[in-house]
Amino acid sequence: MNDLAGKHLVLGLSGGIACYKAAELCRALVKEGASVQVVMTEAATQFITPVTMQALSNRPVYLSQWDAREPNNMAHINLGRQADAILIAPASADFMAKLLHGRADDLLSLLCLARPIERVPLLLAPAMNREMWAHPATQRNVAQLRADGAHVFEVGRGEQACGEVGDGRMLEPDELLEDLIAFFQPKVLQGQRVLVTAGPTYEAIDPVRGITNLSSGKMGFAIARAAREAGAEVTLVAGPVCLPTPRGVQRIDVRSAREMQQAVVAAVPEARVFIAAAAVADWRPAQTAAHKIKKDGSGQPPALDFVENPDILAGVAQSERARSGALYCVGFAAESEDLLAHAQAKRARKGVPLLVGNIGPATFGRDDNALILVDEQRATELPRADKLTLARQLVGEIARRLPGHPAH
Ligand code: C5P
Repeated sequence: MNDLAGKHLVLGLSGGIACYKAAELCRALVKEGASVQVVMTEAATQFITPVTMQALSNRPVYLSQWDAREPNNMAHINLGRQADAILIAPASADFMAKLLHGRADDLLSLLCLARPIERVPLLLAPAMNREMWAHPATQRNVAQLRADGAHVFEVGRGEQACGEVGDGRMLEPDELLEDLIAFFQPKVLQGQRVLVTAGPTYEAIDPVRGITNLSSGKMGFAIARAAREAGAEVTLVAGPVCLPTPRGVQRIDVRSAREMQQAVVAAVPEARVFIAAAAVADWRPAQTAAHKIKKDGSGQPPALDFVENPDILAGVAQSERARSGALYCVGFAAESEDLLAHAQAKRARKGVPLLVGNIGPATFGRDDNALILVDEQRATELPRADKLTLARQLVGEIARRLPGHPAH
């Protein structure tokens, strides 16, 4: 993925042991397609050398407002105007206090103060000891910096370099990268609550066996991430899969279709959008044996009876909220042929305004997919792409269809 392609970032380092994470962050930003100009405070150079940061960013590092390499000798103006964003990682308690007061006695703080405030966002990734983070002065500063237009990322929790345990660590590079990519996505679902189901279900035959299917959960997880990036509050009800939870998404793990239904029924009254991407088993064994079913030596396999599982999506789509338009329902169809006709028929059968069709064998377990969106008026094809790209497009299409939404 090249989620930061074409973006130019100033990566500012202030003093803190988390500077070692900035090296990996810098590498990740470049790998994601960004060009990165590193600026370090004097304190930051105590923790990591400019040589390391130059090698990783492939550009000379700026340290001083008196840097004679700039023809006009105005690094604090030039660097900020070229940037799509300024990311301070780590942002120390002292550096944030300085920013708050608009002080500008070194290049990095000068650059933050001189940035065109409407055009160049300032993003801060705080990093400090837990007592420093919890101190009213720091919390006051964070609140005021937010009010002044800075975007302050969360802090991590856990073991700290000083040996204490608590809040205040800088987020890990992969977490910061995910948050930064999210920052740049259009906020088409800002403040909306979105409920997503993903993955297969597992229907137990006995304590050690069951029936399931080949759904990997990747599409549903990508949709949860994309909805979160678009500003939504996302609940993800996940069948048994080993995928990492997208940042900022509330995940509820379930196993069977009935557990999935319970979780959905509990969460759906709050939701504005319900996206059913899970491959729910149509049937389950009528009984689950309490103990492992043994061979009895007769050569006859055990007879299994099946009963139909509840149709979670159809049930939700019949609710009062869905029928009045207060809840927007989106279904999926995994077919093996004749996608458009099946998707249209399924949309009608499930009673949902939007049905997303894909070819099952061409998507299960893969990182890419191709979708066809069927609503009341038309069918829209989203050509083959990686699942996150498709998920972002789908989220955009959903937002556009929400009655009363600004994108409508
Ligand atoms: O009927 P079919 O399984 O093909 O329908 C697929 C759509 O319905 C998907 O959106 C899936 O998540 C949802 N579904 C459900 N509960 C079921 C079966 C399917 O929510 N028991």
